[in-house]
Amino acid sequence: MTATDRTEPGTPDVAASGGRSVAGARPSGADAEPGGRPDLTEVGPGTLGGELLRRYWHPVTGASELAEAGVKPLRLLGEDLVLYRDRGGAYGLLGRHCPHRRADLSYGWVEDRGLRCSYHGWCFDEAGRCIAQPFEDAVGENARFKEAVRQRAYRVEAKAGLLFAYLGPEPAPLVPTWEPFTWPDGFIQVAFSEVACNWLQCQDNSIDPVHFEWLHDTWPDRQRGSYERAAPRHLRLAFDEFEFGFTYRRVREDLDETSELWTIGRTCLWPNALFTGDHFEWRVPIDDETTLSVGWFFDPVPREARPYRQERIPSWTSPVTDPASGRFVTSHVMNQDFVAWLGQGTTTDRSEEHLSRSDRGVVLMRRRMREEAEAVAAGGDPKGLVRDPERNRCIELPIVGRSRLLEGPTLAEKREQLDRARARYGGPFAFLAGQPAEVQKAYEEAMGC
Ligand code: FES
Ligand SMILES: [Fe+2]
Repeated sequence: MTATDRTEPGTPDVAASGGRSVAGARPSGADAEPGGRPDLTEVGPGTLGGELLRRYWHPVTGASELAEAGVKPLRLLGEDLVLYRDRGGAYGLLGRHCPHRRADLSYGWVEDRGLRCSYHGWCFDEAGRCIAQPFEDAVGENARFKEAVRQRAYRVEAKAGLLFAYLGPEPAPLVPTWEPFTWPDGFIQVAFSEVACNWLQCQDNSIDPVHFEWLHDTWPDRQRGSYERAAPRHLRLAFDEFEFGFTYRRVREDLDETSELWTIGRTCLWPNALFTGDHFEWRVPIDDETTLSVGWFFDPVPREARPYRQERIPSWTSPVTDPASGRFVTSHVMNQDFVAWLGQGTTTDRSEEHLSRSDRGVVLMRRRMREEAEAVAAGGDPKGLVRDPERNRCIELPIVGRSRLLEGPTLAEKREQLDRARARYGGPFAFLAGQPAEVQKAYEEAMGC
C-alpha cells in the first residue's frame, strides 16, 4: 500500500467544511514539502516562510522582564537583536551589532533616551537613529555623519503581560487584542521554553486533535506503570477555516455531538499558535532550528475571591531537559509536546511521513500556509492581519467553556481541581514543569487555596 492509498480522503468520519479552499483537500505525502520547492521551514529574511512570518507580531519576552529599564539580547526569525527599555520608558529592538565597529549592543546600557554602545559611546534611539557620537560631537567637524548612520530597528509593543515584536514592512498591523486579554478576575502567567527544533513541526501540533488521546492522556498513565485505563478514543474529527486560522472539532467516545469540543472546537491560531480558550501557545521561530515556546495562561479566580486584580503578570522559563537524567522532561502537558516535536528531528523530514486521515488538519494548514506565503511573495497581505483599531478593542475567538471562564469556579470546585493537579503534576500547574515557588505562591493566594 502506498502512502497516498492510505490517506485517501472522503470517508464520512473526517469532515472539512467552511472557509477557503478546504473542500476536497487531499491528505497525502504530496502535501508535505517535497524537494525543490522553497521551504516554509526557513525563517530568515527573504525566505518564503520568513517573509510570511514577518507580517505578524510575535511575543518575545515577558513584559515583567523589562518592567524597569534594561537590556536583553534575543534572536528572532534568524536575526540577532537587542531588546531594551530606556530610562524614559520607551522600548526598542535593534540589530545586535553596533554600526560603528560592530560591538555587541547587548553589552551597552540604556540612557534616558536610547541605548548606548559600551565600546565608543554611540547612542541609538528606538527608530535606529544615531543620536550621539561622543568624539565626533566633541570635535564638531562631522556633525552630519550621525545622520548617515542608521541601525536596524523594529517595533515593540507591550500587551497582556508580553512584549511583542514586529519585523515586517510598514504599515505594521495592530497587535491583536484577543478576547482573553480583556478578561477580568483571572491570574495570568507567561512561560517560555527554548525548543531545539524547527517551528513548523511545533505548529503542525496545533491542528492535531488525536495526539491528545495518546501523548497527554495515555502516556502519563504508562509512565506511571499503569495499564488499567484506556483513554477515550477519538471517533470523529472536523476542521474549519476562519479568519484567524482553523478550528478543529472532535467527538470522542466519552463526548457526544452536544459537547462544545464538537460544536465549537479548539483553535489553530494563525500563523503560529494554538488557542484553547484559557491559554495560548505560540511557536515563535528563533531561527531555522530553534523555537521559542511562549505560553500565556489565564486561570479564573473563584467567585468567592472576586473582585481580583493582578498586580503583576509573572513570566518564567520552563526547562526542557531534566539535568539529573539528561532526558527530556515528560511530566507536564507542554513538555510532552516538546518531546514529540524534538523526537521528529531538528527539522522533520516530511518526505518520510505517511500522513493519515487524522492528519487532515495538518494538510489543510500546510496548504494554507503555502498559499499565504505565496501571496506575500507576490506583494499581497496574508490572512488574519488586524488593522482596524475599533475592531481591535476585543477580537473574539471560538472558546470552549467561555461562560465558565468568565464566571469562574466556586472555591470548592477550584480546590478539587488543584488537588487533582497536585496529585498528577506535583503542583497546581499542569502545563509546564518548573513553575517557580513565588509564582506558585502568588497563584495559590489568588485562588484562595
Ligand atoms: S563599536 Fe559601538 S560605538 Fe564603537
Ligand atoms: Fe499537545
